[in-house]
Amino acid sequence: MSPNTLTPESVARFCAVPGLSIQVREEVTSTNTLLKTMAETGAAEGTVLLALRQTAGRGRRDHTFFSPPDTGLYLSLLVKPDLPAQEALLLTTCAAASVALAVEDCAGVPAQIKWVNDVFCRDKKVCGILTEAALDLDTGGLQYAVVGIGVNLFPPEGGFPPDLPEAGAVFETPQEDEVRSRLAGRILERFFAFYKTLRTKPFWEDYQTRSLVLGRSIWVLERGQKRPAVAVALNDDGSLRVREADGTFRDLTSGEVSVRPAEG
Ligand code: BTN
Repeated sequence: MSPNTLTPESVARFCAVPGLSIQVREEVTSTNTLLKTMAETGAAEGTVLLALRQTAGRGRRDHTFFSPPDTGLYLSLLVKPDLPAQEALLLTTCAAASVALAVEDCAGVPAQIKWVNDVFCRDKKVCGILTEAALDLDTGGLQYAVVGIGVNLFPPEGGFPPDLPEAGAVFETPQEDEVRSRLAGRILERFFAFYKTLRTKPFWEDYQTRSLVLGRSIWVLERGQKRPAVAVALNDDGSLRVREADGTFRDLTSGEVSVRPAEG
């Protein structure tokens, strides 16, 4: 089957959310970058942009996001929540839970979430999420937020680049291209169902029970350095409580953690 069967209609077939405006492009620099521009020029909440490939896919902390043609799902959605900026993390955690549930629905494999925004299957990172928001300086709330979701559906030809040792794909072998539309539709359905009551965190149990880090020894990666710690709790605001090597507790609101293999 041609890999280019992703259309607004093919996605809408798997997504019963009213009022979405779904657009599909063959190639973009970054769906997040383009959707932010569209938001600045009046695009409405519920605008969803998908691309078959990205030439400059972006990840968190100024990383690039490997976005080869045809083997990934590159999706950004625009929301305009009534949400104080300090609660913006809810959007990322909501998206991560939505992706994990949608992956389990579509692929039948368990998904786990590595705080705060990475979804793993079979111990490999299969999805990253980049949430970018514009602040309303009058209210201290969000003017809009673009939630960008990148999923590795199948392994790319030749495998993942050697500088991405954590990367893996939801499916171990290529599938009917319809799965891309199905997964996109299911992610959107889950996300917008949760989004209706975002501040009550209807996704929180799904997020917590899939945590890859809770109760485990981790590395906290900050300013180019890594420190050992233990992830002891997920706080209500989405921050991660860790116990440092000296016994003190800290709440991480951003940054990167990785699971620390048990010492032998
Ligand atoms: C990360 O792993 O650090 C986040 C990766 C986010 C990638 C997605 S792909 C769709 C959207 N467009 C982008 O440029 N980035 C996000």
